[in-house]
Amino acid sequence: MVVGVSRLFTSKVFRKKIHDILKVGIGGTLAFGGISIYFKNEKFYDSLVMPMLHKLEPETAHNVAVMAAKYNLVPEVNLKESELLESRVLNLLFKTPIGLAAGFDKNGEAVEGLFKMGFSFVEVGSVTPLPQPGNPKPRVFRLKEDLAIINRYGFNSDGHEAVYERLSQLPPPGHRKAVLGVNLGKNKNSVDHVQDFILGVKKFGPVADYLVINISSPNTPGLRNLQHREELGKLVSAVVTARDSLSGTHKPPLLLKIAPDLSDDDKKDIASVILKNENRIDGLIVSNTTVTRPLWLESAERQEVGGLSGQPLKSLATHTVTDMYRLTRGLIPIIGVGGVASGQDAYEKICAGASLVQVYTGLVYHGPLLVHRITNELEDLLRVGAVLVRLMHQGWCHTSTHKF
Ligand SMILES: Cc1cc2nc3c(=O)[nH]c(=O)nc-3n(C[C@H](O)[C@H](O)[C@H](O)COP(=O)(O)O)c2cc1C
Repeated sequence: MVVGVSRLFTSKVFRKKIHDILKVGIGGTLAFGGISIYFKNEKFYDSLVMPMLHKLEPETAHNVAVMAAKYNLVPEVNLKESELLESRVLNLLFKTPIGLAAGFDKNGEAVEGLFKMGFSFVEVGSVTPLPQPGNPKPRVFRLKEDLAIINRYGFNSDGHEAVYERLSQLPPPGHRKAVLGVNLGKNKNSVDHVQDFILGVKKFGPVADYLVINISSPNTPGLRNLQHREELGKLVSAVVTARDSLSGTHKPPLLLKIAPDLSDDDKKDIASVILKNENRIDGLIVSNTTVTRPLWLESAERQEVGGLSGQPLKSLATHTVTDMYRLTRGLIPIIGVGGVASGQDAYEKICAGASLVQVYTGLVYHGPLLVHRITNELEDLLRVGAVLVRLMHQGWCHTSTHKF
């Protein structure tokens, strides 16, 4: 028996097997190590992953990206611990001001993978009460030359029940790695718009850190009319009442997401409605996509119907932040969104009056490591800003030459 075993260990076949196992093991370890390093390398995305994704039709690429986040095939970026970046807004703690805008994870499938990518908050939705398919395809278009997207998804949604089921599997509010917002929409064929939002508040109130009443998507007929004074007054008081009557102690803040295409009178009306004590909304998200088309757009897809996002939306959205900050006298926190693709872009939104910033289209062109880059660049800019303020207070800077 002993002789048999020792012969087995010294046999050629056995040595070859061990050799092969070692080869596969070492090769696998090296490949795994290489991919892990690459996963945190922006070049890997710029030169390989993003060009491959952009070979796919935009909606397919979107679905692949959501699946990658769902199955954790995304780079892990630890949320930066930095006093400069951390803030308490809406009575919630945000480790950094950078979050993911609504419309990427419409059905709450990939929240943990998205937290892992380095967002300090993720907004899922828009979710409609009943499942609905949205508009016919194709309904998403890349405007490559303009670093933009036009979409007319039209609230394709798995509906409240399915999305709630997924979100209730996550740790409860206050025990998550980052903040979770739920963006509420309405069904295309619903006859009572207000009721759709009330249902959303009741369903997701217990699981969301904050809720968003989305009255600004351009792809659902009649939705944006809810931004007008009288309709808005009714809607806001109904959703605030629904939130206040949620059972238990968890009553999430309610935010309103508005369009960038509002007239001056619309903006004044919105500010006056939401500042009323009985209708007190907790925050604004500024802004959704635009239905306007700047004349300088170059891409052939610029004439597609739908909402335009990305670079061409940036200054319009930032101006809307400035206007709403002024009209609400800084009393209501604003989340600035539209065309953010760098720390400088995020910084401009903050200077315009935003407390937090969201990103979407930037990710489509720059890949998942953009979150890390924006956060680092923003921290540097905030540090310079803080030094300038200190110098100014010490009399080193001439106030007339510095904004601070
Ligand atoms: C493909 C796509 C789908 C979107 N879907 C939604 C949505 O369901 N609900 C919503 O409130 N905003 C939606 N948005 C708007 C974004 O949340 C964001 O407000 C807008 O795109 C501006 O930001 P960005 O320029 O960084 O993309 C969508 C945007 C895109 C590009």
